[in-house]
Amino acid sequence: MAYLQTAVDRYIVRVAKLKTLFVCRSCGGVQNRWLGKCPDCGTWDSLEEATHDPSAEKDPQAALVGAWTELAEAKPLEAASSEAARPINEIAESEADIGRLTTGIQELDRVLGRSRGPGAPGAGIVPGSAVLVGGEPGIGKSTLLLQAAASLARTGTRVLYVSSEESASQVRQRAVRLGSQGEKDLFLLSDTNLARIVEQTRRVLPRVLVIDSIQMIYRSDVPAAPGSITQLRRCASELVYLAKKSGIAVLLVGHVTKDGQLAGPRLLEHLVDTVISFEGERYHQHRVVRAVKNRFGTTLEIGLFEMTGDGLREIPDSVGVAPVAGSESRIGSVVCPVMTGSRCVLVEIQALTATGFLGAAKRKSSGLDSNRLAMLIAVLEQHAGLRLADRDIFASSVGGLKVVDPASDLALLMAIASAQVRKALDPRTCAIGEVGLGGEIRPAQQMEARVLEAARLGFQRVIVAKGKTPAPKGAKIEIVGVKNVDQALEQLG
Ligand code: TYD
Ligand code: MG
Repeated sequence: MAYLQTAVDRYIVRVAKLKTLFVCRSCGGVQNRWLGKCPDCGTWDSLEEATHDPSAEKDPQAALVGAWTELAEAKPLEAASSEAARPINEIAESEADIGRLTTGIQELDRVLGRSRGPGAPGAGIVPGSAVLVGGEPGIGKSTLLLQAAASLARTGTRVLYVSSEESASQVRQRAVRLGSQGEKDLFLLSDTNLARIVEQTRRVLPRVLVIDSIQMIYRSDVPAAPGSITQLRRCASELVYLAKKSGIAVLLVGHVTKDGQLAGPRLLEHLVDTVISFEGERYHQHRVVRAVKNRFGTTLEIGLFEMTGDGLREIPDSVGVAPVAGSESRIGSVVCPVMTGSRCVLVEIQALTATGFLGAAKRKSSGLDSNRLAMLIAVLEQHAGLRLADRDIFASSVGGLKVVDPASDLALLMAIASAQVRKALDPRTCAIGEVGLGGEIRPAQQMEARVLEAARLGFQRVIVAKGKTPAPKGAKIEIVGVKNVDQALEQLG
């Protein structure tokens, strides 16, 4: 039946009178003819044929959702708040921020944001907000959202999970594997037609609506193929409007390719309140959730997960990505406490040097900034007298975590030197500090939090910039101050 309905929808699409336009895949700019390069954003080969939709010219919000919310019993969150301009102090704060929906997955809640109102320490999804979860195919978006949906349902929050890629029984099968199938507040629907999804939403009246994925959703009255930019934009704006109007939180899943391309998530970022990106190497088990845009919280926080045989497992604060101190010493490996938002993660940084050719030596990094790698190699050549010009140098952060914190400079520098001179650092020692072009070691921010975390995970010595680094109270850890690269390298065994 669903198939028949789709065929009918397509037929209606074909008989409508159309005008062809070209829409840029990356910025959404509209052109009258095809061009090799988008004149608005300068991207090459990004214009895609789209058909002009006359019905969009009418008030787009008067469509599906508008019609429903007029008669729905669901109360709009801010009824009649938009009629006149008022001074800021007369406007009541939205209740939405106070009643955040906690998913129970702490690593995700923290990324979604924490409300700051007094007596409202909850973190999680803001009711009536639209969240886009982007990531490469196969990274685990469906798994994460299904786990979050099941966890919400377990605490009595009604969730409608719409899968446009899998059948309802496939989703159930996955839920069983994730250890959650008994929740009576978790509703599943397998559909791609927006009108039917809105209709089911009206029937179920969930507090959270998950659309997995938005790329497959279409409106039958929009004359464009499912997955095209026209469809994507219309359907997404309709769903965002649904969120605002009804107070239902809408979570959209969007696929992105390696370079962030493919039909739209870039285009959708403007529409939604929060953009969460789900990253990681598919063949590594670690996954990082980070907010790219967040109207209701900071974008500094990250959430750490591990993909296991039965779903994603949180890596709570108490565990680092690096092996805990005490394992045997390794040449070319130095641990650094890296800050991401309020959270400190211990990351093991590794380097390897091998024979290369003068003038054509390779310098490759994975998870680390390649410009900083080049800079640190130059510093080692100039200020430590190491001869690296004809060495191939490889550097990586263990576990596939992307490290952008400049405080990891010292660890990387020591890892390269350790690999080159074949001397290992004591495994219970870690290093924190920025390295300047003059070979000087500079202190990093939030030293106390880093040192405390290292001490808690069993490290006994920490190498930092010489100066006023306080030994945190109660932490049993020796602080070793170094002034420059030479002094730092003396610490290698
Ligand atoms: P999936 O969530 O379907 O990815 P996405 O929705 O982002 O495309 O699943 C990603 C991968 O995770 C899949 O290839 C298999 C793996 N996986 C596990 O390792 N364990 C599990 O329990 C599940 C459900 C998936
Ligand atoms: Mg999926």
